[in-house]
Amino acid sequence: MRSLNGDLLLQRLAAQPGNKRYTRLYNAVRLSILDGSLPPRTRLPPSRDLAQELTLSRNTVLKVYEQLLAEGYLEARAGSGTFVTDSVPDLPPVPATPVQRQPEPVSPPALSQRGMALIANASAGPRQWGAFMPGVPDVSAFPHKLFAKYLNRFSRQPAPQHLTYNSHPGGSRELQQALVDYLRVARSVQCLPEQILITEGIHQALDLVTRMLCNPGDSAWVEEPGYWGIRNILRMNDVNLCPVTVDEAGMLPPDDMLTVPPRLIFVTPSHQYPLGSVMSLSRRQQLLAIARRQGSWIVEDDYDSEFRFAGQPIPSLQGLEAGAPVIYIGTFSKTLYPGLRLGYVVFPEPLAAAMMTAHAEFYRAGHLIAQNALAHFITDGHYSAHIRRMRLQYGKRRACLVALIEQHFGDGALHPFSSNAGLHVVLRLPEQVDDVRLAAIANERGVLVRPLSRYYLGSRKETGLLMGFSTLPEEDMRQAFGVLIACLQTHYPALRLTAEEENNVTDSRPS
Ligand SMILES: Cc1ncc(COP(=O)(O)O)c(C=O)c1O
Repeated sequence: MRSLNGDLLLQRLAAQPGNKRYTRLYNAVRLSILDGSLPPRTRLPPSRDLAQELTLSRNTVLKVYEQLLAEGYLEARAGSGTFVTDSVPDLPPVPATPVQRQPEPVSPPALSQRGMALIANASAGPRQWGAFMPGVPDVSAFPHKLFAKYLNRFSRQPAPQHLTYNSHPGGSRELQQALVDYLRVARSVQCLPEQILITEGIHQALDLVTRMLCNPGDSAWVEEPGYWGIRNILRMNDVNLCPVTVDEAGMLPPDDMLTVPPRLIFVTPSHQYPLGSVMSLSRRQQLLAIARRQGSWIVEDDYDSEFRFAGQPIPSLQGLEAGAPVIYIGTFSKTLYPGLRLGYVVFPEPLAAAMMTAHAEFYRAGHLIAQNALAHFITDGHYSAHIRRMRLQYGKRRACLVALIEQHFGDGALHPFSSNAGLHVVLRLPEQVDDVRLAAIANERGVLVRPLSRYYLGSRKETGLLMGFSTLPEEDMRQAFGVLIACLQTHYPALRLTAEEENNVTDSRPS
């Protein structure tokens, strides 16, 4: 007799994030019957067991079973359980609530090989807001009303050149100037306005840099573990990814890597992503020397350095030496909000003009009204004030999350490379825990952690969870943390957490 595949159901539940739990389970079971993943005569597990496996309430499972029995997908056999019927209805019944439009799936042959590879390795998930979501700031704290005044000012009577094609190579002149001043003070970046290109975020900047500086077959060093957004960009440009280990002092290039000079070296020196180390001065000097000797460009991804909660800001690598072979990239995604889609690149002077032309060719830049509004928001002091406010807030939230981790998992659970900065921490998990599965189960319960092992390219991986602390006020953190502990205990009952945890955590599993 066949039995039901819990992993398949978990995947199907996770694929419909907006729906209620009942609807998600109903759709998941019904679709599995219709597409044959649950063939006729398959026995469904008792409602109690399925509820436990999927961390849902038993009531939800019972209601779904009842509905599918009523619709003729399932049949109950006295004394032996619930089964998929022999004669499954061909057409799904008309649902009582409107169906959410699903995009038509593109059949694989319609895509290029490149396109298929891209889809297969896609990294951006649909759920980006919720408890412990890493890398997303508290977007609800942004001063929208104030920013709207600036937007209004520039929208009311926009100059024609703000509305046409590409009349400002590199972006708004005013934003370039505002950034020159801000970056000099806040990040020790040395540059002229002509070196700054405004982009739609770091991701676009990485794409531009890779396309313009790499030939097919070139190599690029990436941090191991590192930011996965970069991988697809490199693969799409036929660039070989060379993972380079990271330790507590940042990227550590072994001598044998020097035989194949990299074209690009991608680093996050101020706050290594995702582990959190700060690149030491000697490592910075070593990397600059390697780049100069080999004719490589260092791409400095400075994605969240504004948020350090103790000590002084870490100065950029770009500003360490005059004329350093460094392309410095920053973003407003963490300081303001990711949906704004604004970031910037500071190019070394010899590259700047070509990059502006290429940017206009690839992406047809725009959003000058928003760029001008942002420039004035910065020069009037609101940008720095917002960062100061959020830094205080995030510092408290980080301390609260770290305390919860230490209380429940012990002192060594916070990753040792972690520095008191950024928008997330890394919780290390015992080896026997499958972090990908645990994250999927937790996501299902609304706790949006990310599995650390997915940030590695090679086979030597650490397991753990990236946990963001920026989106959740302290008073809500304990409850969300309890959900995570409950998921862990349900799926790894043999795992011993610290004694305190057993006394303190309220199990918030549905009854
Ligand atoms: C290390 C790192 N670089 C870049 C980005 C993307 O930045 P943007 O939103 O500007 O594309 C992220 C996003 O999480 C990141 O973690």
